[in-house]
Amino acid sequence: MINTKEKKFPDGFLWGAATSAHQVEGNNQNDWSEWEKNNVERLAREAKIKYTPWQQEKFPEMFEPVNYISGRAADHYNRYEEDFDIAKSLGHNSHRFSIEWSRIEPEEGKFNEKEIEHYRQVVKALRRRGMEPFVTLWHWPLPLWLAEHGGWESKSIIGYFERYAKKMAEAIPEVKFWITLNEPEVYASHSYLKGNWPPQKRNYLAYRHVIRNLVSAHKKAYTAIKLIHPDSKIGIAKHNIYFEAYRNRFINKLLKKIADMWWNEWFIKKIAGHQDVIGVNNYHHNIINYGFYKNENKRMSDMAWELYPESLAFVVRDLAKYKLPIYIAEHGLADADDSRREWFLTESLKHLHSAIEEGVPVKGYTHWSLLDNFEWDKGFWPRFGLVEVDYKTMERRIRGSAYAYAKICKSNKLESR
Ligand code: BGC
Repeated sequence: MINTKEKKFPDGFLWGAATSAHQVEGNNQNDWSEWEKNNVERLAREAKIKYTPWQQEKFPEMFEPVNYISGRAADHYNRYEEDFDIAKSLGHNSHRFSIEWSRIEPEEGKFNEKEIEHYRQVVKALRRRGMEPFVTLWHWPLPLWLAEHGGWESKSIIGYFERYAKKMAEAIPEVKFWITLNEPEVYASHSYLKGNWPPQKRNYLAYRHVIRNLVSAHKKAYTAIKLIHPDSKIGIAKHNIYFEAYRNRFINKLLKKIADMWWNEWFIKKIAGHQDVIGVNNYHHNIINYGFYKNENKRMSDMAWELYPESLAFVVRDLAKYKLPIYIAEHGLADADDSRREWFLTESLKHLHSAIEEGVPVKGYTHWSLLDNFEWDKGFWPRFGLVEVDYKTMERRIRGSAYAYAKICKSNKLESR
């Protein structure tokens, strides 16, 4: 029974933080690292037009080409034990990370046993600390050979992904939670519709191929892992947005329905029967007004994204219809001076708690992110970490908000106010 006064979370609730390989490990050689090399100058130049004056003033590093090279990232590949010690000390009992496919299969069909062993050790390090691993198989970059084969546009990737998933499931039987794909539709639309991420295409047909191949790849990987470990819990990390119809006007409600169907529901429905859990990432709330967004933006993150703490609860309420356990796989904000993180996190969790009380089966929450990291085409200036990283010395500094979150993780409840 949940005691409402105390805002206690259900027993066994999983608390933690998330990262992804390319964003924290350092020294990855994949299609992204190649793309970075070819685009740094342009990205540094475009900062002038892409970001608001207050962002430009606060983060002058966005004008430096070096900001856009992932390089050593947070050196987490070498420091994961130390980083997990920090997470453990902050009361985390789970952790989400991703395996870097290009390390595992640097050449077609040639699997690197040393790298497989590395990730086995990462999982063991988490288990030793009593932290439940959530393992993502693909968080966006591809091995170079695979990108050269056409990446997600080519049907052949389905078989490659299935083989890779099978290999990892056999190699690391200690993993219970597998997340096959991270935010497939975010990747597909940035890389194949908007053309701002590798391979920078703007082609609707290509986009359709990509998204369909992602659906098939997930299903194949699901079946392959399930055959090896029938008890494992498999899902994707789905990017969902809370769309709201401005003033409940008919046209806005209709547009909201279309947006929900296209963005929030299509992929999940396509993989029906091939998921045991729903992993969800939420960052956005969009108020729809005749096809435009009309957010109030009372508070914003350093990315100039609205901070709307009710959003996460709305998103999970909507997901309850699938009748599967829900895990928050990502939720967080870029906040370099840590002036908004504690407020945003606590308020969001209050709303999440209400949704759980209403019966929404949320079983865990991993905050994005454990560490400051490489934010894709934006580079290093956005600071998403509970833990600050000094990129020169690689020193870690725990932010104040991380301690506030630790209190929640350790007590499994929110202080009632
Ligand atoms: C991605 C992360 C990213 C975060 C913040 C999510 O869409 O999965 O890789 O860092 O958003 O932008």
